[in-house]
Parts: sequence; C-alpha cells; structure tokens
Amino acid sequence: MSVTSAPMASTYLQCIEETCGRRQDTQVDVHACTSCGGLLDVKYDFDPINPAQLRDTWRQRRLSDDPIDRSGVWRFREIVPFADPGSRIITLSEGFTPLVEAPRAGSWAGPVQLTVKHQGANLTGSFKDVGMTACITRAVCRGARWVACASTGNTSSSMAAYASRAGLKALLFVPLNQISAPKLAQALDFGAFVVEVGNNFDAAFRLLVEIAPELGLYLVNSINPFRIEGQKTIVPEMLEQRGWRSPDYIVVPGGNLGNSSAIGKGLQELKDLGVIEKIPKLVIVQAAGASPFYETLRAGAKDLCAVENPHTEASAIRIGHPANWKKARRALLWAGGFCESVTDDEIFEAKAALAKDGVACEPASAAGLAGVRKLAQAGKIEKGADVVCVLTGHQLKDTEYIMRHRSGEKAGGQRMQVEADLNSLRTQLKRVLGGS
Ligand code: F0G
Repeated sequence: MSVTSAPMASTYLQCIEETCGRRQDTQVDVHACTSCGGLLDVKYDFDPINPAQLRDTWRQRRLSDDPIDRSGVWRFREIVPFADPGSRIITLSEGFTPLVEAPRAGSWAGPVQLTVKHQGANLTGSFKDVGMTACITRAVCRGARWVACASTGNTSSSMAAYASRAGLKALLFVPLNQISAPKLAQALDFGAFVVEVGNNFDAAFRLLVEIAPELGLYLVNSINPFRIEGQKTIVPEMLEQRGWRSPDYIVVPGGNLGNSSAIGKGLQELKDLGVIEKIPKLVIVQAAGASPFYETLRAGAKDLCAVENPHTEASAIRIGHPANWKKARRALLWAGGFCESVTDDEIFEAKAALAKDGVACEPASAAGLAGVRKLAQAGKIEKGADVVCVLTGHQLKDTEYIMRHRSGEKAGGQRMQVEADLNSLRTQLKRVLGGS
C-alpha cells in the first residue's frame, strides 16, 4: 500500500528551542537536536492551499474504499506529507474513532456540554495507533529492522501490532510490575520481546534512550517527532465530526506529554493553513502523584520540576520526567488553556460518571474529565462550555483497576456470590431490586 499523490510540501526537521532552531538532516534518525539536544519538530513548507477544497477532499475520502483513505491518519495526508510518493504505508485502519455525547457526565462535571472523542476505539485500544502508523511508516522508509520503546503499556501494544504488520521486530522496555496485564498480554500476543527493567517508566525510558543507538534500535517513543505527526490528526478528525466548529476546550490527560503536544501542533497548523478560525483552549490533566508539568507551571519554573517516584493508580500516566514537556508548554502558549492535577479518587469519580452515560475508558483517560470538574468548580471553565474530552484508552486496558474498585465493599455490593437455590436468590435479589 502506498501514497500515490505527490506531497504538497517539503519536509524538514527543526529544533524547537528558540535560541537554537537548527534544522536537521531528515536522512538521519535523530530524536534530539545535534547542536543543543532540544526536541525536534517535523515541519513542512506547505504549498498554498484552498481550505474549503481541502476539507472537501477529506470528506470525499470518507466514501473511498482505498485502504489509505480508510485510515483516519492518511486520509489527512496533505498535512502529514512526509512520506514520499511510493512509500509503503503501514496502516491498520486507525482513527475514525467516535465522538459521543456524554450528557450525564457533562452535567456532573459542570454543567458543561460534553462530548468524548474515544480513542479507545482504535485497533489496539488506544490513541497510540494514530501515532504509530506514522512512526512505523517512517521506520520502514528508513530501513529499520528493530523498533523499540519504553512504555507504560499502550505505546508498547501499539508498537507491537504495527511492527508485526510491517514485518519488523519489536523490543519493549517496561517497568517491572507496573503495567497492566492486558497491555502486557497484547504486546506478547504480537510476538514482541519484553524487557522488564526499572521501577518506573522514567528509568526504563532513560536506559532505552541510552542503549538504542549502540544496538541500532529505531526508537518509537513520542520524542520521535513522526509519532506526533500521526497523533495530530485527532484534531481534523474531531473537528470534521463537529462540522468544523471548534469547541471551547479540548481536554487530554498528560503523561509523557506527547499527545497534548500533538494536539497543539494540529491546531496550530490547521489555523495557519486557514482550515479553522478558532483555536480551542487546551486543558492538560495530570494525576496528583505524577504531576511534574502541573508543578512546573504552578511554580512558573524555567526547568522541569521532575517527580522522582511518581505514583497514581492511573498507571498509563505514572511518569515523573515527561520528555515532551517543552512542546506541551508551547502548545498551551499557542492555544491558551490550563494544566490541572487530580487525585486518584477524583479520577475514579470521573470514570464512574462517564459509565452512567454508557461510556467507559481506562483510568488515565478519565483524568481529563476529573480536571474539567475541578476547573469548572474553580470558575476557570465556564458553565455550559463546549468541551471535548479525548478518552485515550479502552475500558479493558486495565481490568484489575475495575475489579479493585467495583467488586469490594466500596462498590456497595455490586458483585455478590449466592448459594445456588431459589430462596437464597430471592433474599439477595430483593435486597438489590428493592433499592431501585
Ligand atoms: N492516556 C493513556 C491511556 C496513555 O497510555 C498515555 C500515555 C497517556 C494518556 C498520556 O499521553 O504520554 O502523550 O502525555 N502512555 C504512554 C505509554 C506513556 O507508554 O503507553 P502522553
């Protein structure tokens, strides 16, 4: 499968540091500026476009059966034009995720007018797939044989799937006993090699970044700027689903801060191209025990206030040294908005509020909504605001969490074991049904 239409832009890599801004050779696999070590952006010199025509082209492709158009990333290829014509595109029909209204949760949180963009509907169950199609496509273009990442579990499942699809070998570093069983199972199921190392994501990530060059591993963590290119297409997909009406707020949970950076980049590029007029405010929500970015902004600090032993039940975002924090800070500057932090109890309440609308997600994803409630209570998000929460992962990504919260005393007897006779059933069920 390949892209047939010519790219409408030339691609380059550039350091994000204002004091540097050095361009890098796109034919070398670097994830940091060779001059100052800063993060890199994939950038394009876009040819002039007609925004209405572009929106129309994207819409037309929804009717197409071409596998490239069936991808919610490559359907927007005019803004992801890094793959040369003829490049092999590695896609699993990612994207095309639903935008669902959640009125009960919206009223609980604000009231706000709430919809959720459910990235858990991607094939491996998280938003990582929309980044991975771009990154693995790039890895194939670069002739990689082994791809690698450190992960709290979702990047790794996604990498494992896309690597399989591409015929590449996958190696993942995960912190020992810190990622949920379903996520680990997914990666193993795709044949990935799993290295359990370190006590948290940050340790595993640091070791991988150091060892990757000498072992010739192609890194697919979100410091690889091509991941960001795929993830930014969450923005046009969401806005198209809303008839190109920007919401007041887009809300995402923040871990390594790649997704918030990607959404910021998507918004900024669409604005620069004239595809959208209004940039919604961006809200990034971290878990209280793992909130280095929140603390950094609160302190107005120049350097990251890293957290050495991050803790939260939302294991996906248990990260103390987010690699992309400078890009996320830039995204907040571009879009305006806030970073908030929420406790594990607040995350559970938000997850339970969504469940009342028939919508579920993994704990990290619910952090966003918990943040909305907190910001609305503080008067920072106005009542009735039009809010889209990006739900990043599927409900079944962390079943241990659900069993812990939903089957003990705390859950109010939701789960019961009953003797297999009618009398016992009557007694127990009267108790349950009587309360309804
Ligand atoms: N939500 C979920 C479900 C995640 O898996 C992650 C990150 C995030 C939110 C935060 O996104 O890192 O871009 O700020 N998971 C990574 C992983 C770290 O390894 O799967 P971020």
